[in-house]
Amino acid sequence: MIRLNNNIEIPQMGAGTWTLKGETAQRNVRLALEAGFRHIDTAQMYENEAEVGQGIADSKVPRSEVFLTTKIVPNTMRQGAEAVRQSIDESLKKLKTDYIDLLLIHWPVKDRVRETWQVMEECVQRGKVRSIGVSNFNPHHLDDLLSYAEIRPVINQIEVHPFMSQEENIAYNHRLGIQVEGWGPFGQGDIDVVGHPLLQSLAAKYGKTSSQIVLRWIVQRGLITIPRCKPNHFAENLEVMHFALSDEDMAAVSSLNRNMRSSEVNDPESFPW
Ligand SMILES: NC(=O)c1ccc[n+]([C@@H]2O[C@H](COP(=O)([O-])OP(=O)(O)OC[C@H]3O[C@@H](n4cnc5c(N)ncnc54)[C@H](OP(=O)(O)O)[C@@H]3O)[C@@H](O)[C@H]2O)c1
Repeated sequence: MIRLNNNIEIPQMGAGTWTLKGETAQRNVRLALEAGFRHIDTAQMYENEAEVGQGIADSKVPRSEVFLTTKIVPNTMRQGAEAVRQSIDESLKKLKTDYIDLLLIHWPVKDRVRETWQVMEECVQRGKVRSIGVSNFNPHHLDDLLSYAEIRPVINQIEVHPFMSQEENIAYNHRLGIQVEGWGPFGQGDIDVVGHPLLQSLAAKYGKTSSQIVLRWIVQRGLITIPRCKPNHFAENLEVMHFALSDEDMAAVSSLNRNMRSSEVNDPESFPW
């Protein structure tokens, strides 16, 4: 568990649901909870909140034991505060819950962050949301938000994998008391992270998979991780909490950084959403 700046704890290992739709989303979320995951990451943009909510209900794991994250879609932010307010109520309905554990601004939509944040703060006061945070924020986006925020973000969810180690951005967040959650640990499957020869040789050395070396490198940096929720990888992913990489091997994985995103469109400075 990682303790957030509002004293709430989040499981360091979660399950991400991007690209999962319909019955697959519902089934994978149920199976993840049955396998031992207690942290599920979705977003309005993923168009699977209803199935995620149903998967949680099907699992019979009490709602109070599940840490559930969703995110506000950029297009709704563009429509103004009332649209954001309504979208949060819709998320609650689809997710079949009366509270969201963590609500994030998905992308720093220009000129729309302030009013969105104020609605999110209002939702915390009303008990609809326990924690609020951001995603894909660079330091200057955080500085701007902190100039007016009454509630400090608990988390910044950003792209983190061996080719995009984000050292400076992470250090900046940590100095502000904001935890970092890494998305796309395997480059979303769009760039070949796990096939890198160094990761494969470390996998052989530790008797693990290349994916486990990546996830261990992330959690050993004190970050939260949300690899995609796929049953064929559940046991593999949970197991990374039970071994450690040497300092030397941690540094070797970090040296793979090349500031390479899984896709050019994922740059927060120029994102087109
Ligand atoms: N905030 C944001 O803007 C943002 C953006 C993107 C994603 N996210 C969140 O981050 C989560 C993770 O990122 P992602 O889903 O895009 O990509 P990812 O987890 O980096 O990559 C998923 C792909 O990696 C492969 N893979 C290899 N080893 C794996 C393992 N041990 N566990 C799971 N998959 C493994 C899988 O393919 P095979 O099964 O074929 O091996 C899968 O298709 C998302 O699901 C979403 O919740 C957030």
